[in-house]
Amino acid sequence: MNTRDRLLRLLEGNRERFVSGERLAETLGVSRNAVWKAVRALREEGYVIDAATNRGYRLAQENDLLSPAGIERFLPERHPFDIVVRKRVDSTNAEARRRALEGAAEGTVIVAEEQRAGRGRPGKRFYSPPGSGVYLSVVLRPTLPADRGQLLTCAAAVAGARAIERVCGCEALIKWVNDIYMDGRKVAGILTEGMVDIESGRFEHAVMGIGVNAKMPAAGFPAELADVAGAVADGAGAVRAELAATILEEFWRLYERIEERRFFEEYRRRCFLLGQPVVVARDGSRVRARAVDLDDDFRLVVELPDKTRLALPYGEVSAGRGAPPLQS
Ligand code: BTN
Repeated sequence: MNTRDRLLRLLEGNRERFVSGERLAETLGVSRNAVWKAVRALREEGYVIDAATNRGYRLAQENDLLSPAGIERFLPERHPFDIVVRKRVDSTNAEARRRALEGAAEGTVIVAEEQRAGRGRPGKRFYSPPGSGVYLSVVLRPTLPADRGQLLTCAAAVAGARAIERVCGCEALIKWVNDIYMDGRKVAGILTEGMVDIESGRFEHAVMGIGVNAKMPAAGFPAELADVAGAVADGAGAVRAELAATILEEFWRLYERIEERRFFEEYRRRCFLLGQPVVVARDGSRVRARAVDLDDDFRLVVELPDKTRLALPYGEVSAGRGAPPLQS
């Protein structure tokens, strides 16, 4: 680890306290001048570092840039994650996949300040500007049969909702299958991808990616998202590291015993489409229906106007009320 990374780790570990330049230099085994240069480099990247004569340096409270040490501050001392933070990537899912193919261990986490080509479902872009979101992907090596992969997405949705509630204190609901809503607005989405060994029907690896709009983006949301998207925090304060850590912790708790599906009832309770009229977009057509239940495999059971029921394994479903009339 270079001096910059080690200094950041030290400052994160002493967040509320000033640490003298002399002590920093001694702990890092470098000169005071090298400490000063590393401070300057961090400031240039956007870290707010307070300096006070005779007291030293301190990471400012309002500092909300992401770093491995900053995220680890909110994780238990022993955790299974190897966290990598990148300033900008195409997509954290794509980066996690590349690393998985190179043999990265389960629990490798890629976090980015910004994604240039953040991906959503189905084949959509996920708007991922710098400074306002949590975009993270975890490399998994599940023993789960690949046809039960939906469990990963559903566990992540429950974990994301729990994390948002723990950090922000507001109720978070799930829009089947992979979106998290707060106050009627989408604040997070999940994209789980994987590579399957056809012979065994098991995963070579999987990547669970989640994106959370932690704060309103500086330039607002683009016009096409403005009516739907929202943010979990009001803009003040540093929440992103805590959100990232809490998502990871909650997800891992569910993932470790994923096959037991213990989160099923919670997922169902948070699912706000149940009992509602919906429009189902599937295989090129749109159908009006009513969402009536989830089956044991987290498929959405919908009832069509002729009372027949369908269990949807995937597909885009939107609230039916207020939807435009359908073409027949
Ligand atoms: C959706 O809205 O349909 C899912 C969005 C998933 C976005 C996250 S951000 C981190 C990870 N990297 C990606 O490219 N996508 C996921």
